[in-house]
Amino acid sequence: MEPVMSVEVDWTIEALGLELAKPSSAPLAQRVYRTLRNWIQEGRLVSGQRLPSSRRLARELGLGRNTVLAAVDQLIAEGFLESRPGAGTFIADVAFEAVASQCRETSPAAGQAEVGEAELSTRGIQLLEFCATLDDRFGAFAPGVPALDRFPHELWQRLLRRHLHTAPTQWLDYQAQGGVPALREALCDYLRLSRSVLCRPEQVLIVQGAQHGFELLARMLGDVGDRVWVEEPGYSGAQACFSAAGFEVEPVPVDAEGMSVESVPAGGASPRLIHVTPSHQYPSGVTMSLERRLALIEAAERHRAWIVEDDYDSEFRYGQRPIAALQGLVDGARVIYVGTFSKVLYPGLRLGYLVLPEPLVAPFRRANARLHREGQYPVQAALAEFIAQGHFSRHVRRMRDCYRQRQSRLREALAPAVARGLTLSEGQAGMHLVAWLDDLKTERTLVAHAAEQDVTLSPLSRYYLRQPGRPGLVLGYAGAREDEIERAGRWLAREWLALEGEP
Ligand SMILES: Cc1ncc(COP(=O)(O)O)c(C=O)c1O
Repeated sequence: MEPVMSVEVDWTIEALGLELAKPSSAPLAQRVYRTLRNWIQEGRLVSGQRLPSSRRLARELGLGRNTVLAAVDQLIAEGFLESRPGAGTFIADVAFEAVASQCRETSPAAGQAEVGEAELSTRGIQLLEFCATLDDRFGAFAPGVPALDRFPHELWQRLLRRHLHTAPTQWLDYQAQGGVPALREALCDYLRLSRSVLCRPEQVLIVQGAQHGFELLARMLGDVGDRVWVEEPGYSGAQACFSAAGFEVEPVPVDAEGMSVESVPAGGASPRLIHVTPSHQYPSGVTMSLERRLALIEAAERHRAWIVEDDYDSEFRYGQRPIAALQGLVDGARVIYVGTFSKVLYPGLRLGYLVLPEPLVAPFRRANARLHREGQYPVQAALAEFIAQGHFSRHVRRMRDCYRQRQSRLREALAPAVARGLTLSEGQAGMHLVAWLDDLKTERTLVAHAAEQDVTLSPLSRYYLRQPGRPGLVLGYAGAREDEIERAGRWLAREWLALEGEP
């Protein structure tokens, strides 16, 4: 195409001179390239204009000709400039400025479009509805945060360093083994002994935390429009994965015995998945009774649904041995066990696992390796050693003592309110207590006052999909030091008493 103008842009020589006079450690060719590119992007240089020749630029700027040529050649290669033999070097005939100004006009930053409703997919908007409980995850009462201050960092770093150092070269490649065999074996031994899970190492698929496991389960076992039963109240992390995969999320009430499948009206669409936390229901804290476990397994069989057993914090039981997993209860039951290291070690580790029935092992491995890729094998190997050498069990024992102590400090701090009728969950397991409240107004007021005090208070009603949810507070006690827990607990007791009309 003929250039619109073939005026030589003389001003570039003086302007480049000023630019290059500024202090910089970047190579000169790089600076010439950057400056010219910026001017084109900003629209100061437009299509059809002719650059002074490289010879002239070099001479008048006091640069080597190769320096100028390197910059110009790079811009030609990227399409910003074009060389016309016998005519010179021109700003390329591309509609850069037109596109750029269109983008500027419609960019969200320019306030032209609302990020959110306008920019996100329907699925994206729906997903955000499950993200409310993500906020404020630090300090006293943040739910689901383990005692990071008690994690054996030095020991862990040492193991990590060693395994990074000795990792075989093949671990740098793509992997599709379902995770490091040593970790799958160590996990299998642990799950068999501690959780009565029936499994062989081949059935274990290492994933990047439970969340990744839920996503994979949703994609592999359900289609858009399928139904998933979730606990009400329940864990929004899992619900988010199911919703994002296009599932219809149907809340099923939880009572003192756990999810009650018999309360689902007959005749509705069958679920494809049923997400449950039977060992320690999240967030109510109840343990699913044997009768309910059997009813659940029977319902899954009848509907040809898969039970997703989310065993996120069962290691922490105080007083009695951990309750055995649902997975090992009935041979052949349609249960997929999901475990995570987020609570026992730390959430940033992003390691968890699925225990899959034999026929699902190969398809899941292949799909996971394709969709998410596997990796971090040296970290997995370090974790396998951490377990095999007994550090894992030791850490669990220590944390159990620590959490028991933190919970009792919280109970002591809340005692004045409890004496006046504040009801707390039993707290025989896990990392949080639930304080049941009488009304949503009290819940709202306490949450608002807590924010002013830098205390994280999670309203229980937010864990319900059908509104209004039951009012209460989810009080994480594991992740904060005893003195912080005590301070926050005393504050909460005072606030609650003030609201309840204590003199
Ligand atoms: C019920 C429940 N399941 C699973 C998890 C762990 O998820 P992840 O392994 O993705 O960190 C949590 C964490 O808060 C949880 O509360």
